[in-house]
This record gives sequence, structure tokens and C-alpha cells, in this order.
Amino acid sequence: MMLVEYQSQRVSLWYFRLALVLFILQVVMGLWLSINYAFTLPQDLVNVFPFSTARALHTNLLVAWMLLGFMGGTYYILPPECARDLFSEKLAYLQLALFVGAAVTAVVGFLFGWTQGKPLLEIPLPLDFVIVVAALIFIANVAMTIIKAEVRTALQWMLLGGVTFLALMYLFGMPFYQNLNTDYYYWWWVIHLWVEGAWEVVTASIVAYIIMRVTGVDRKVVEKWLYVETGLFLFTGIVGTGHHYYWIGAPDYWLWWGGIFSALEPLPIVLMVVDTWMHVRERKNPIVNPLTWYYIIGLAIYHLVGAGLWGFMHTLPPINYYTHGSQITVSHGHLAFFGAYALLNLTIFYFAMPRLKGINKYQDRLGKWGFWITTIGMFVLGLVFGIAGILQTYLERFLDIGYSTAHLTMMFWFRVAFGVGLVFLAGVIITVYHLFTIKPSSIPAPEPVVTPASNI
Ligand code: HEM
Ligand code: HEM
Ligand SMILES: [Fe+2]
Repeated sequence: MMLVEYQSQRVSLWYFRLALVLFILQVVMGLWLSINYAFTLPQDLVNVFPFSTARALHTNLLVAWMLLGFMGGTYYILPPECARDLFSEKLAYLQLALFVGAAVTAVVGFLFGWTQGKPLLEIPLPLDFVIVVAALIFIANVAMTIIKAEVRTALQWMLLGGVTFLALMYLFGMPFYQNLNTDYYYWWWVIHLWVEGAWEVVTASIVAYIIMRVTGVDRKVVEKWLYVETGLFLFTGIVGTGHHYYWIGAPDYWLWWGGIFSALEPLPIVLMVVDTWMHVRERKNPIVNPLTWYYIIGLAIYHLVGAGLWGFMHTLPPINYYTHGSQITVSHGHLAFFGAYALLNLTIFYFAMPRLKGINKYQDRLGKWGFWITTIGMFVLGLVFGIAGILQTYLERFLDIGYSTAHLTMMFWFRVAFGVGLVFLAGVIITVYHLFTIKPSSIPAPEPVVTPASNI
């Protein structure tokens, strides 16, 4: 028995499952990176498996599992939003095969030094073309489903707009520019305009959908917030790209434009916290699965802390001058990626996977352990990177001490990071195990108190 309304929503299950497996591998690589920083490893080992290779695996696996989650999430949401099945299930599976094929080839390639060397986007050009084909199939499938639908909703177009923007930006990371400044200039069009632009639009749309479904709050109210947030994300995020142009040889005016606009970036994130809170308070349906709510609310708060607060802390030029490219950036990178996008993906998985298995109310004891261990674990990890970053900034940027000497004082903190990372990994394994083996709860689900809004 399935609780989903449309058969074709099932394609998303394989996207989710593969994403979860890659998530575990990503975290294992993170642990390995922390060992590299915490101890002096034998040179023979470093020669065969360098830090850069492990880092490329850690970050590319991250991007890969999150994109799988977004694509699966979109395929899950689209049929009920369009009141029809997906345009083509076959294309969805073909796209998945191409994407995963490229990812596996890339991983093997990295081990043999086949990389184009741009952080987070190390996948070499020939494989980029496979990714582009997969992305084109995805967008065509999404667009055709919407075009052929008889109902029209704002959410459909937001989602299509978000994923198209996401795919377009990828193109800017493909060419190699001889001048490294130019190369990095466009690299940020992918990295920044993804996480502070396109991915936020996709997130806002997916969260709007899930909140609407679980609370029964009126579609018009949810959509109103969605418009405002999306507008603000784009308004602040696009010009905010300038906060990466302070020191890479771009014109000086970016110090002002980048500083001011990026300082406004937390605004839409604050709005997301406010509207989530309001929708929860004004919900018309009872809470059936508390854990799904832990994730929705956890995502709103952690997004604000990791991206909004931690981002704001070092976004103004007078501060960034000292902290640029240090472990403070790493601290923010972890808290933001985890708080916004790991939690978003897990929210989707907890919303969709039980339904795909025909479960309305699920047993959540183990999953709650997973939630608390991962969220607290990552927060502590972020703090530990932050301490290493403060040390690094002080020693390297104030006292002018060389990188390797400064690193000796940071090694202790990377040993702590390894310990905390182990606990975090345990939390991730518990969560993944729970999602893979999710079972119906014997406690009956509460009946809706009020008839849900018709939402038409
Ligand atoms: C969910 C959203 C976000 C994610 C996932 C994210 C992630 C990241 C990552 C991974 C980096 C490091 C890139 C690198 O150099 O390799 C970075 C850099 C940076 N982020 Fe964010 N970020 C987000 C939102 C924000 C926001 C809202 C702000 C500002 C309010 C911000 C401010 C910065 C700044 C200033 C840097 C550059 C740090 C440096 O100079 O080294 N970020 N971000
Ligand atoms: C056991 C857990 C983890 C550990 C010990 C760990 C450790 C590390 C280390 C040591 C680096 C290299 C930093 C550098 O180049 O100086 C790194 C990079 C990175 N990791 Fe993790 N990681 C873990 C989990 C995660 C998770 C769950 C995420 C995202 C949800 C993540 C996202 C990133 C990102 C975005 C970077 C690049 C940061 C930058 O360029 O500033 N990591 N990680
Ligand atoms: Fe940025």
C-alpha cells in the first residue's frame, strides 16, 4: 500500500536512498580529513592518497547527495502539485543512472588524480557534459509535467525557476579560464549563487509545500511568504556575490556592494523562521509525526544560525580581511551546509519516505536519537572549527606567523574535531538506518480536528 497519490512519485525513493548512502561516505571522508590535520601522516600514505583528493571526495559527495535529494524531492512534490503523474518515469530513471554513473566515475577518477581542480566542482569537463545531459533531462521532465498539468500553482513555477537557475549556474564552472582570478570570479557564480540563490529558492519552495501539507494552512498564506522570501533571497544574494570579490583582484566597489547586500542576506532567512513559527501556531491539522516537525523547525533555526549568523559574522570587509579563507570559513561552511541543506534534505526524506512505504504514523524513537546526535554533534564540530579559526586568524593574520607553525597550535583542536566527528557519524548512521527501516507506529495517528483547507 502506498500513501502517495501518484504512482510516479515512487521514482524519488531511489534518489533518496542513493543520497543517503553518499551522505555516509561524505562524512567518512570528513573524518579522514580531520585526521590529516590532527596528525602528521607518513609521506608514503600522503603520496598515494593526498589531502586534496580526500577533500575533493568530501565536498563533491556533499554536492552530489544534496542534488540527488533536491531532484528526488522535486519529483516527489510535482505530481500532487500538478494533479497528474510525472511526464516520464523512464526519463527520471535514465537521468538518475546518468547522474550516478558520472558521480561514480568521478570518484574513481579523483583517486587517480583526474580532476579539474576547482574546489567543490572538481569533476573534469567530459563528465560535466554527462551532468549537463542529466540536468537537461531533469528540467525537461519537470517543465513538461507542469505544462501538461491542468492546475496552475505558483509553487510549480517557483520550483521550475529554482532548478533551472541552479542548472544554468553550473555552466559557468565548466570552462577553465587561464587567469586564475577570472576562474575564481566565475567559480563564485556557481558556489555562491547556488547556496545563496538557486538552492534557497528550491528550499523555500519545498519547505512551503511540506508546511502546507502537514499544517493545512491556506495555500494563499504560504504562497505570500514564498514570494517575499524568494524575492529577498534573489535581491540580496545576487549582488551579495560581491562578498567573495574583496581580495581576488575584482574592482574596489565590491567592498561596498558586497558588504551591504550580503549583510542583508540573513533577512529572508529570518522571515523563514517567522513564517514557519506562524504556520505551526495556526495549523489546522494535528501533528502526526513529531520527528518530521523536529526537522522542519530544526531546519528553520539552524539555517538562521549557520548561514545567517555565522555568515554575517565575517561578511563585512573589515572582518573578512582577517578571517578570509581560514578555519572560520570552514566553521561557517559546515554549519550553513548542514543547517540549511542537510536538514532540508532530511526533512524531505522524513516527509516522503514513510508515505512512499504506505506508513502514515511512524515509530520515531531511533530517529529522534539520530536527530539530536547529528544536530548537536555538528554544532560542536562547528564550534571546534571556529576555535581553530580564531587561533589561526590571530597567529597568521595578527602576529604574522607562518601557516605551518600556526598549524601546530591548531592540531589539538582537529583531534577534538575527529572525536566529535565520530559521534556525528554515529548519528548519521542511526538516521540513515532509521530511514531505511522505517516502521509504522502502533500508537494510532490523531484524527484531524478541523477539516484541512481545500487549498484550491
Ligand atoms: C545556506 C547558505 C550558505 C551556505 C551553504 C554557505 C556556505 C559557504 C561555504 C562552503 C563557504 C566557503 C567557500 C570556500 O571558500 O571554499 C562560504 C563562504 C562565505 N560565506 Fe557562506 N554560506 C551560506 C550563506 C551565507 C550567508 C547568508 C552569508 C552572509 C550573511 C555568508 C557569508 C560568507 C562569506 C563572507 C564567505 C567567505 C569567507 C571567506 O572569505 O573565506 N554565507 N559559505
Ligand atoms: C565527521 C564529520 C565531518 C568532519 C570531521 C569534517 C571535516 C572537514 C575538514 C577537515 C574539511 C577541510 C577544511 C579545510 O580545507 O581546511 C572539510 C571541508 C568541508 N566540509 Fe566537512 N567534515 C564533516 C562533515 C561535513 C558535513 C556533514 C558537511 C555538510 C553538510 C560538510 C561540509 C564541508 C564543506 C562545505 C567543506 C569545505 C569548506 C570550505 O571550503 O571552507 N562536512 N570538512
Ligand atoms: Fe557567499
